Amino acid sequence: MQFVHPDLNFFSLNNGVLAAEGVDLAKIAQDVGTPCYVYSRAGFEAPLLAYQEGLKDRKHLICYAIKANPCGALLRLAAALGAGADVTSGGELAQASRAGIPPEKIVFSGVAKTAREINEALDLGIFSFNIESESELDLIDRLALERNQRVSISFRVNPDIDAKTHPKITTGMHKNKFGIPTEQALELARSTKKRAGVVLTGLDCHIGSGLPETGPLLEALQALMQLRGMLENEGLEITHLDIGGGLGIQYTPDQNPAHPREYAKLLADNLQDFDGTIIVEPGRSISGNAGVLLSSVVHTKDNGKRRFVIIDAAMTDLVRPAMYEAKHEILVNSPRNGDSFPVDVVGGVCESSDTFARDCALPPMKPGDLLAFCSAGAYGFAMSSQYNGRPRVPEVLVEGDTYRVVRRRETYEDLWAAEIL
Ligand code: LLP
Repeated sequence: MQFVHPDLNFFSLNNGVLAAEGVDLAKIAQDVGTPCYVYSRAGFEAPLLAYQEGLKDRKHLICYAIKANPCGALLRLAAALGAGADVTSGGELAQASRAGIPPEKIVFSGVAKTAREINEALDLGIFSFNIESESELDLIDRLALERNQRVSISFRVNPDIDAKTHPKITTGMHKNKFGIPTEQALELARSTKKRAGVVLTGLDCHIGSGLPETGPLLEALQALMQLRGMLENEGLEITHLDIGGGLGIQYTPDQNPAHPREYAKLLADNLQDFDGTIIVEPGRSISGNAGVLLSSVVHTKDNGKRRFVIIDAAMTDLVRPAMYEAKHEILVNSPRNGDSFPVDVVGGVCESSDTFARDCALPPMKPGDLLAFCSAGAYGFAMSSQYNGRPRVPEVLVEGDTYRVVRRRETYEDLWAAEIL
């Protein structure tokens, strides 16, 4: 993965040997079987430390968006480094707590928080609810009052800014379901003065994911600062600003998004006039480059028109290519001494969308050869399913020259474990 920022890259391919840190991926494939996810501890920690470094001179909170990868072993590493969490459901709140992320470092985002989920967060005493509608504000205010609590809230502002990313993961435009338009936010903010269950302490936004450029993020930051100015004129003090997640990563050599450290510095520089807490909610830029999906060739096939490399991983394990036309760089361990052929790399699910790559130049592949899909540590396992009766794959964590299975491979029994006959 030479294309990844060198200090964030812990996977390599040298003389046909694929490795994560000091561990040969062929050894993991042999011991654990394929498909499996392999994560690098250093690869997960490095970007988190880079965000901290970029914001070190400011009050800040890095709330890892655990939806990107909620693996308990990784969450524990995040907790040990002092990170908080951005959660989006009661389930994620439970995952974060279980991993030891303190409630006072948790922000709760999402448009559909239910009374049950809100009560769970009130029980724990989280840092802030990122509120997305008036209806949600009413509910949180009421539930907090019922228990004589006054909770910190933030308004997730929808600034109508095009994040210039894939339409399915653009979230900051008025056609999207997310956030509160700026003008409405102003009105609603005034209403909080009369509400006894909530106190408005923050403003947040999240305009999209996988942004190739930081421009739209800085524009969104300006929108938050502007609104903050208006609120302060009305006596409403804002003590934290949360820009959400969104920073893209390198999936292929032609992509060159900002380094998390530089991006964090940029945020700090653009918030000179603000002395409150700066919050970021990065998901992809923490775990994305920290993982690969390891798979083996099952069959090859030439139908006269196209050549197929059929592998044991499928869209059930990594849905991003099928869902967003996403490209993940493929590394293979077979020696590149023959000619490369354009092949389609496909999984075994009964859908034509189960295609990882089309016309991909690979050396001749044979059953048993290994492939690694790079930059699969975010929204990979997290979005996996059991469709087509496929048990979920194991997750392996590499630390230096050792590795351990941190989630076992599901069994056939797991396919029906929750059924009641
Ligand atoms: N904060 C909020 C409120 C979010 O909704 C998200 C992601 C994040 C933070 C983290 O964003 P990140 O730093 O990862 O860009 N499944 C898609 C990505 C969906 C992102 C959803 N929200 C994919 O595989 O590309």
